[in-house]
Amino acid sequence: MLLVLNGPNLNRLGLREPGIYGAQTLEDLERQCEAWGAELELSVTCRQSNYEGQLLEWVQDAEEQGFTGIVLNPGALTHTSYALRDAISGQTLPVVEVHLSNVDAREPFRHVSVTAGVCRGKISGLGFTGYRLAMEYLAEVMGALA
Ligand code: DQA
Repeated sequence: MLLVLNGPNLNRLGLREPGIYGAQTLEDLERQCEAWGAELELSVTCRQSNYEGQLLEWVQDAEEQGFTGIVLNPGALTHTSYALRDAISGQTLPVVEVHLSNVDAREPFRHVSVTAGVCRGKISGLGFTGYRLAMEYLAEVMGALA
């Protein structure tokens, strides 16, 4: 059971800077993740919030709610949120950080992730495909644990 979390402003996909983030919407992304989940024989729950505290609670509670891994695009909280970093390191599920855009090719402030260091790894710049790769990795790790 996988949790796919999208942070601030990702509800604006399709409208927001389409030259950077593409023309597809959050709903397109979530339906796609569910379809990939079905292929991997994993149930997938997708959530998005613009609120840091809500994301913290979803990360904190994920294991108790029966999830076995988290795909996380923290949006701009990636670059600022020590609280989100602490929420990730304070729980035991594997977390993969994903960014639609290539953050390392953008403004210098986006080159720093305060969250990636407590995730299993980070995928950046591959659009929706990054989510699929993160899901495949987590399916493999979760299989190994099962
Ligand atoms: C993002 C990259 C972040 O720098 C930005 O603040 C976002 C989206 C991405 O998916 O490329 O909101 O996480």
